[in-house]
Amino acid sequence: MTLILDDQAVIAQLLKHIENGTTDEADSMWREPVSNYTSNKRLIKERESVLKRWPVVFCPSVALPEPGSYLAREAAGAPLLATRDKEGVVRVFKNACRHRGMQVAENSGRKNTFVCPYHGWTYRLDGELIQIPHEAGFPDVDKSCNGLVAVEAREQDGLIYVVQDPTPNCWDALNEIPKLINDDQFVLNESEYIVDANWKIFAESSLEGYHIKATHRETFYPYGYDNINLVELFGRNGRITFPFRRIEKLATIPQDEWRIDGRVTQVSNLFPNVLVATLSHFTNVVVLEPITEGKTLARTWTLSNRGADDTPEAKAEIQRDQDFNALGLREDQDMVESIQRGLASDANSHLTFGKYEKLISHLHRNLQEVLSTESIDEKP
Ligand code: FES
Ligand SMILES: [Fe+2]
Repeated sequence: MTLILDDQAVIAQLLKHIENGTTDEADSMWREPVSNYTSNKRLIKERESVLKRWPVVFCPSVALPEPGSYLAREAAGAPLLATRDKEGVVRVFKNACRHRGMQVAENSGRKNTFVCPYHGWTYRLDGELIQIPHEAGFPDVDKSCNGLVAVEAREQDGLIYVVQDPTPNCWDALNEIPKLINDDQFVLNESEYIVDANWKIFAESSLEGYHIKATHRETFYPYGYDNINLVELFGRNGRITFPFRRIEKLATIPQDEWRIDGRVTQVSNLFPNVLVATLSHFTNVVVLEPITEGKTLARTWTLSNRGADDTPEAKAEIQRDQDFNALGLREDQDMVESIQRGLASDANSHLTFGKYEKLISHLHRNLQEVLSTESIDEKP
């Protein structure tokens, strides 16, 4: 099934937009209630009904490069541990010892077993409990049914997804996600930073090109365009393509010589809170993990698009690309945090998204749809 346009078709559509001064548009505007960015009740609902019930990216496959690799982090407020077992199969567990609940691993690395730091209960990569120190004191504990608690996980096209609270057919959503990561990528670096804003405001900053001139006047705008984008929707997900001015050169050469590398930035929103941004030399996989309704942890894996090319020249080029992108992201972060602070003014009952902000409307419409079809018990 074709979910997204191939590179040639993307270029053709962008050249048309550039020639005509047009951009992709939504059918209508969208108004999102401000309370959806400020309410703790709403965040709890998003966690319980969407972030835990939908296949959400936990990390890129290359974050677990070999048998024994592991990665521990919180997802939707719950500590999880992902491992790649001896056979290369990815497994995800609740990161909680079956004795008294201590987290058995932190951060990432490579191990053959996880020894709980509190009293030393020991688990294999497949989660099985294999050792209890002074076991005689636990006559009623059957090791064979006290392994780490598994969470449903799947690996597809270079990304590892988890569903913490599965519903029937929830994994069907993966059929709607195209391959976005090349096979030969590897992790250049990992980073995380906290943004003082709701996770959706952060996501919105990457999903439209209407702000390029005003926000990125001296960074992206000199190389790109204001409000000229291609927006593709696939399932509850979508992709926006931002062209660089140098794409115009392609109009003068035969179509079979068109190459997209270096001529666009593409950002895919994998519903709901994951962004896959492909730039010239690297791809960022960014998980926007809400900490509170007004605070988000942006966890980023930067993958090299250049395969095994690790010459000093290639590295310098990637670094330049990364530094440049970081300048633009800093500008976005300032906007995003200012918006969140501004919400406290009560000036707006809703935030308004125009027809040029199509991918954002798509995200909100889908969130609303999923939330309204899920019924959860209100937490006290
Ligand atoms: S809490 Fe893990 S061994 Fe005691
Ligand atoms: Fe931006």
